[in-house]
Amino acid sequence: MRILLTGGTGYIGSHTAVELIKQGHEVEIVDNLRNSKASVLDRIEQIAGKKPKFYQADLLDTEKINQIFAETQFDLVIHFAGLKAVGESVEIPLEYYKNNIGGTISLLEAMRANNCKRIIFSSSATVYGIQESPEYVETMQTGPGISNPYGRTKYMIEEILKDFAVANPDFEVTILRYFNPVGAHPSGLIGDDPNGRPNNLMPIIMHVASGKIPYLSIFGDDYNTPDGTCIRDYIHVVDLAKGHVAAIKTLKPGVSIYNLGSGKGVSVKEMVAAFEKASGKPLPQQIAGRRAGDLDEFYANPAKAKAELDWQTELTIDDIMVDTLNYLKRENQQ
Ligand code: NAD
Ligand code: UFG
Repeated sequence: MRILLTGGTGYIGSHTAVELIKQGHEVEIVDNLRNSKASVLDRIEQIAGKKPKFYQADLLDTEKINQIFAETQFDLVIHFAGLKAVGESVEIPLEYYKNNIGGTISLLEAMRANNCKRIIFSSSATVYGIQESPEYVETMQTGPGISNPYGRTKYMIEEILKDFAVANPDFEVTILRYFNPVGAHPSGLIGDDPNGRPNNLMPIIMHVASGKIPYLSIFGDDYNTPDGTCIRDYIHVVDLAKGHVAAIKTLKPGVSIYNLGSGKGVSVKEMVAAFEKASGKPLPQQIAGRRAGDLDEFYANPAKAKAELDWQTELTIDDIMVDTLNYLKRENQQ
């Protein structure tokens, strides 16, 4: 297939590009490089043997996006492009709504105008909001309880895609709800390398390990969990990338929704201990106050992805830490 990845130079997009190229797909990327670097394209080539064609463009530039679709007939779009920092989304909500929702609408318009009818969208477990059970299933209600504008953009885009699919019944839409993507490619060539200050646990642990941040603040140890720290479902980014390859095989008209997670919950303290085990060094850390909006525990029920996509995670928390350290070592050598 000829596949366009929006946001494809970013963290998850670049790993997915590698897996798609390895499977023989033709990959092209559009990204405005707001949170990634063009040098990622060479890294993708080093790993997968082929450099994706690259368009530096903003999805909000409707004319340019339309032109890209008019020039090339894509079989599928995988739509990663979006702003994703929860805290920042509270500070600049309009920019998040404009970029994430406006960008998606611009993309869908260009797709419809140029007869490209398949889309896979990067959604998030955040759309589940607050649930009674920590084990999230695709059939649960989404929307209520989402604590920040970023999460609401994901929820709203899901709703837009559902409406769009009703109005355009020949469209094939797959929504993938990621849990907590972490880790790096085992080559050490690509990984989570956000521009600016990181917000998520693993990039912060990496910054602490390389001395850029003095210590990790563990946000709360008084949650209702066995060790008091929050529990999440961390998924190796290579497993996640393979989930996209699997999802391509089952695209069908209408909207299909899948959780991509391991189904296992791991606490912040367990993540820190696994990192320390892999590095052989203690990680400077302090217990800090709770972070607003954090839930004590959630993880995926991944049964639907297993049954319908024949996909499940294969890599462990130890693999995640080894690959993260390998990536960190290479980055620090640059
Ligand atoms: P990322 O920031 O590394 O990649 C996103 C890419 O999109 C970046 O390269 C950025 O430059 C680009 N981009 C943003 N707005 C754009 C626009 N208007 N036009 C063109 N390019 C634009 O993020 P990621 O971690 O790879 O996440 C990919 C997708 O997965 C995002 O939609 C994110 O919300 C979603 N997601 C991520 C996580 C996570 O923890 N990483 C969890 C759940 C869902
Ligand atoms: N944490 C710390 N210290 C830090 C950073 C994080 O203790 O410096 C803790 C958090 O409190 C949380 C856990 O580590 O308990 C994971 O935090 P992340 O910020 O890495 O991830 P979240 O679960 O908060 O959110 C992530 C993405 C969201 C997405 C959500 C569900 O950032 O985009 O997963 O998929 F919506």
